[in-house]
Amino acid sequence: MPICRTVASESFYIPRDFLQNVKICVIGCGAIGTTIAKAVDDFPEVEVTYLTDRSQECATRLQEHTKKVVYVPDIVPILGEIGLVAEAASQDAARYYVPLALSAGVNVLVMSVGVFQDEEFQADTHRLSKRKGAKIFIPSGAIGGIDALSSASMEEIDEVTLTTTKPPSAFGPSAYLESRGIIPSEIRVRTELFHGSAREAVKHFPQNINIAATISLAGVGFEKTTIRIVCDPQVKTNEHNLRAKGKFGELDVVTRNLPSPRNPKTSYLAALSAISAIRKITGHMWVGV
Ligand SMILES: NC(=O)c1ccc[n+]([C@@H]2O[C@H](COP(=O)([O-])OP(=O)(O)OC[C@H]3O[C@@H](n4cnc5c(N)ncnc54)[C@H](O)[C@@H]3O)[C@@H](O)[C@H]2O)c1
Repeated sequence: MPICRTVASESFYIPRDFLQNVKICVIGCGAIGTTIAKAVDDFPEVEVTYLTDRSQECATRLQEHTKKVVYVPDIVPILGEIGLVAEAASQDAARYYVPLALSAGVNVLVMSVGVFQDEEFQADTHRLSKRKGAKIFIPSGAIGGIDALSSASMEEIDEVTLTTTKPPSAFGPSAYLESRGIIPSEIRVRTELFHGSAREAVKHFPQNINIAATISLAGVGFEKTTIRIVCDPQVKTNEHNLRAKGKFGELDVVTRNLPSPRNPKTSYLAALSAISAIRKITGHMWVGV
């Protein structure tokens, strides 16, 4: 029987059926998708993990190394039987699969969160979610403190600032840096490369788009969130310092990420946050809602 077809009430709602025999569909078998598919193989609540990817080879290889993974070239025929689509592919994929799943009343978990900086897409998917009674889940991703920021934003917040510090090697080609004559590989001392709104930051530093989007969505939005990008030859890992101040008090959280063993450009914590989110959604107790 299809899961989650019941129209949700305005309050937070997870259907009772969701707690057992859930079939999920993972989009993307890269660093995050593979980590999700392998982890949920051991979740007793998950009955089947459908998997799709542009690369059939990658998906069928993963199928051979797991118990529950079933490769599907197209997810439309299985939409009627799944409870959750977990997007872990790309913004293009999110643009296609998120509305597709919501239209069918299926909950979605979105890793390519940057897609929500497009206000029209955000409004359209929110409307669909409400109309179809399906939820949009956004894991905390590659940063800590999203739970506290989200709680804090229930009251007045004076400021939210993310300072991302990376070694010179972490900066790829950038028109923004070139136009300012900045060559990261030649930087010898800690140097601030950017200071501005999250809206501006995602334009100039698309590599930071998911973290900036997650913080903006959890807190005070893209215009009011401040982002600082710092290049420091002394640091070895990507470091994110999330600071917020408001009626709740002050928040100061530092995350030092190690890369995913499957993709050096992806922080391992991001993949783990997806697994943790699915554990919460399909499980019986939800800590840090
Ligand atoms: N929320 C966060 O904090 C966070 C952190 C890291 C990465 N991400 C995002 O999560 C997504 C996945 O990251 P990853 O490191 O696993 O990437 P990856 O490059 O390792 O894997 C992506 C996979 O998706 C597939 N794919 C891409 N577009 C597709 C499409 N339209 N249809 C079908 N398959 C498609 C690719 O073939 C590839 O196998 C990316 O968009 C990335 O930006 C989010």
